[in-house]
Amino acid sequence: MRICVIPGDGVGQEVIPAAQRVLEALRLDLEFVRADAGFEHFQKTGNAIPDATLDAVRACDATLFGATSSPMTRVEGYRSPILALRQTLDLYANLRPIQSLPGAFSRPNLDLLIVRENTEGLYAGRERVEKEGMIIAERVITRRASERIARVAFQYAQQRKKRVTIVHKANVLKLSDGLFRETCFQVAREFPYLRADEMLVDAMAMRLVTNPQDYDVIVTTNLFGDILSDEASALIGGLGVAPSGNIGASNAVFEPVHGSAPDIAGKGIANPLGAILSAAMMLDYLKQAQAAAQIRLAVNRVLEFGVMTRDLLSDLGRAPATTDEVTRAIIAAL
Ligand code: IPM
Ligand code: MN
Repeated sequence: MRICVIPGDGVGQEVIPAAQRVLEALRLDLEFVRADAGFEHFQKTGNAIPDATLDAVRACDATLFGATSSPMTRVEGYRSPILALRQTLDLYANLRPIQSLPGAFSRPNLDLLIVRENTEGLYAGRERVEKEGMIIAERVITRRASERIARVAFQYAQQRKKRVTIVHKANVLKLSDGLFRETCFQVAREFPYLRADEMLVDAMAMRLVTNPQDYDVIVTTNLFGDILSDEASALIGGLGVAPSGNIGASNAVFEPVHGSAPDIAGKGIANPLGAILSAAMMLDYLKQAQAAAQIRLAVNRVLEFGVMTRDLLSDLGRAPATTDEVTRAIIAAL
């Protein structure tokens, strides 16, 4: 199988090689194809995501993506490569699992799956200057995209705790989230043996803090999914440990939920677990469930043993491990 590897910017260049080392240690039949993307590449070449990279992603069986830096202010000609990948390749489902990890940094007994619509909503890129001092951002919700994301959520719920919570803000966004909500409940009828309920996004944000163990699959629109998944990662140790997968009909890109973290980049201290657990998700997608389970087991062993990067350590009396030390411990545990 061919794996496209896009480290990108900042800590992506540290955690993706770490994940690749773990994959190599499994001795599966994997071939790695490196490709460029990101702000650094843009500054060198004027292109944030060259066609060669899109071609490589299309040609490979799956892609491992690090992170890219997106400036807070507009830079002429620059667009976030991950957003470009999601839209160009129609990677419509963003799967963001939240599973407890062994350690004081994580709450126990959590097994959530956030299913985030990945192609429209407020990410449709429709922002314009209406007049001086007035900007309009359009939020696109279609029946087609709502239907296919709902189907993904219910399909996953079938193999899990059998409950889907539809998260929206239809009390205010009556037309757009009204359509999302109604479409999700329509899909729910195809799965009569699953429980389907709903929650307003603000209430969901609170419930994620107070009662996260009550939920199973959460399906929601693009921006709400973005926000709730960062929030939910804090339940299990933060952004450093959260994996994700962007899945389309014929391509898939796996990436840690965290960004390029310029503040710690180049120091060798970034947490590689988000990237390594994303590699495990990728193996599940490639029908290598046993290898994926091996990675998760090794990650748990290493954490139980107390080997972890700074971000997971509350007891500062203990020495934090480096990216490389965590990676080597995982490979040893494999
Ligand atoms: C994520 C990130 C991206 C997003 C950024 C980098 C554009 O925050 O994958 O959650 O907003 O989707
Ligand atoms: Mn995000």
